[in-house]
Amino acid sequence: MRVALPTSRAAEVETPLLAVPVFAGDDGRGADFDAVNEATGGLLARIADEEGFKPEPGKTLLIHGGDTPAKRYLLLGAGPRDELTPQAVRGLAASACDEANARHLTSCALAVPAGLDAKAAAHFAAVGAVLASYRYQKYLTKDVEPTTCEELVAAVAGGDAAELEPVIARATRAAVGVNLARDLVNGPPREVTPRRLAAVAEEIAADEGLEVRIFDESSIAEQGMNLLMAVGQGSEEPPRFIHLTYKPKGATADTPQVAFVGKGITFDAGGYNIKPTGSMEDMKMDMAGAAAVLGAMKAVSAYAPSYVVHGIVPTCENLVSGSAYKPGDVFHAKNGKSVEIMNTDAEGRLALADALSYASDELKVDRIVDLATLTGACMVALGPYTAGLMGNDDAFRAKVGGAAERAGEDVWALPLTKKLKAMLKSPIADMKNIGERWGGALTAGIFLSEFVGDVTWAHLDIAGPAYTEKPEPSVAKGGTGFGVLTLLELLDGEV
Ligand code: BES
Ligand code: MN
Ligand code: ZN
Repeated sequence: MRVALPTSRAAEVETPLLAVPVFAGDDGRGADFDAVNEATGGLLARIADEEGFKPEPGKTLLIHGGDTPAKRYLLLGAGPRDELTPQAVRGLAASACDEANARHLTSCALAVPAGLDAKAAAHFAAVGAVLASYRYQKYLTKDVEPTTCEELVAAVAGGDAAELEPVIARATRAAVGVNLARDLVNGPPREVTPRRLAAVAEEIAADEGLEVRIFDESSIAEQGMNLLMAVGQGSEEPPRFIHLTYKPKGATADTPQVAFVGKGITFDAGGYNIKPTGSMEDMKMDMAGAAAVLGAMKAVSAYAPSYVVHGIVPTCENLVSGSAYKPGDVFHAKNGKSVEIMNTDAEGRLALADALSYASDELKVDRIVDLATLTGACMVALGPYTAGLMGNDDAFRAKVGGAAERAGEDVWALPLTKKLKAMLKSPIADMKNIGERWGGALTAGIFLSEFVGDVTWAHLDIAGPAYTEKPEPSVAKGGTGFGVLTLLELLDGEV
């Protein structure tokens, strides 16, 4: 998918399909619509009126052009003008590409609405186009949907092509990172194993000039990552611990460092606290945090932050066998704390705990963000589209929340209520790995907080938004790649 910027005037673009946003409101359908409508001699308004087109988000109307540079027009309902955000351009661009694909066209164009910050609008046009081109069809032997559309021509009102060119190039890299994360989540668990994630990390390192270190099972044990080992010990597939590093030019020992840590359970059967039918089917997605970290590391050099960025993934399977860990077992975490296992299905926090200790104690980073499909409780609290955001520092949590908002990813802050910590008390160890019935997303967050030392840390529980059953124009069914854009947005400034 290529995104081109030939002109800022949509009505002049020669294209098989020009998508034109139509706004709702008393002051007409908007200047973008008016300009194109005028160039068609009023054709668009006439047909929109005849068809009773309502400019609600998601509504579209295809109109064949007359003697105009565009062969067809696609009216895109865009809702009230004063509610338009640059992030919404993602959906508009994706809708244009979807229509082009449905009609087997190789190119389409979008009249990017005026009145937005041109750079932000161009960014989201490119993101939308690249994300709309995503399909996971590797295992289909029939009914493969061709994605014919190879180009989105973005006419950015008031935009200067020379200024927007690098914005689009970077946005494309970001969206390619999201699509990589989607591929990893959608891949069946027999393919996307811990060893496969390690191989992908090695490929990313080679392609992007990053450093990479892969710990195999014996180095994981040597590191004292006994909680990660415990979760993985029930599987024939060996665990891996992945550490990617981006270093800016001229980095020294004093260069600030941030770590992105992603839960990489490549299949979560629950262990002896086995998941029932209905809860296990999608558990290949339990490595979506890892996928988000790898997707972000794939694009990190396009953002060229001035600090060191670590991408860290503890990865294993959580299965049942004669060697699996059991409820009642006690293990010492990498940081020395003892943990009594009271539920083998609360495995993500265990794998993450050792990774958080590695980042804080071993690497001595300044900031940590972890992403994890950690709790069903977070989905109960916030629904399937919103990630829970927790952390040990209000300012940093707000910073991550701001990055998510700019990225167009939905997150909402949850508290790490101090009183809940008592729920993790164990009679025989420093703590147990589950709390009581209520506040499950928070007790999981509190558990993690025990492993970051005094490092500034934020935690995103992405159990809901990592995977979707309901496709949207820029989000296919399955893995969404949620989190990649937030991490990259966070890199677009000081952390
Ligand atoms: N991977 C699951 C959480 C999950 C659930 C992710 C649904 C995506 C969709 C996690 O490992 C888990 O099993 N959590 C338990 C924790 C409980 C045992 C304290 C849960 O949420 O039930
Ligand atoms: Mn689990
Ligand atoms: Zn899990």
